Amino acid sequence: MERKIINTGDGSKTLFIPQMDEQYHSVNGAITESEYVYLEKGYRHNKAPEPVILEIGFGTGLNALLTAIEAENKKRKTTFISLEKYPLESAEIQQLNYGNMISERAEELFSALHQCEWNRKINISPYFDLLKLKTDLTQFSFEKIPPLDVIYFDAFGPDKQPEMWNEEIFRKIFEISNSKANLITYTSKGEIRRRMQRSGYISERLPGPPGKRHMLRATRP
Ligand SMILES: C[S@@+](CC[C@H](N)C(=O)[O-])C[C@H]1O[C@@H](n2cnc3c(N)ncnc32)[C@H](O)[C@@H]1O
Repeated sequence: MERKIINTGDGSKTLFIPQMDEQYHSVNGAITESEYVYLEKGYRHNKAPEPVILEIGFGTGLNALLTAIEAENKKRKTTFISLEKYPLESAEIQQLNYGNMISERAEELFSALHQCEWNRKINISPYFDLLKLKTDLTQFSFEKIPPLDVIYFDAFGPDKQPEMWNEEIFRKIFEISNSKANLITYTSKGEIRRRMQRSGYISERLPGPPGKRHMLRATRP
């Protein structure tokens, strides 16, 4: 499927899939969205001292990058597991400007995240282990991964890829989550919220990032 690099509102780039009419991040700002939705409302909100994170959709690696930077700054040992069915090509990765918009250290981490082997846990920095799994979420056996503290649910929209948002997937993730685990997503759709609740989560609607009224955060009681 064709992917195009586009600029977003805060100057950071993202990818757009014309055939799906869908982009990887908000057009109002890729870094701004990722920082607010996943870092602020997820990673920083969760109090696990050494969190295990599961991300649905590694994509550009932006969520992983921001988390790796924060883990280093806060000396919070973090394990980051990310599922991806369609990894980016290296020509696409080279056109993304996250590293150079943030810092020199971010550039180094960004290369390390992308260069690291798939399907093997790799120590990227003293505070950040990454396990990128090249797999299809809808076929994935969750028994393979350790108990989770934070879930970055960053699939394409429920109207574009409904099979990623079904209740059975939320239930499987719930079952391997620790008490007080948080599942965060940029969508605020009522039906998605109800599926999370029927899977056992308590879910809240939070103010969204720029350009979006709301987003969702679910918590395992
Ligand atoms: C919204 S983008 C993720 C953005 C990403 N978190 C980032 O920081 O760039 C959704 C991602 O889900 C991936 N994806 C689509 N279908 C999938 C599937 N069945 N299993 C796993 N990943 C899938 C896409 O390739 C894409 O990278």
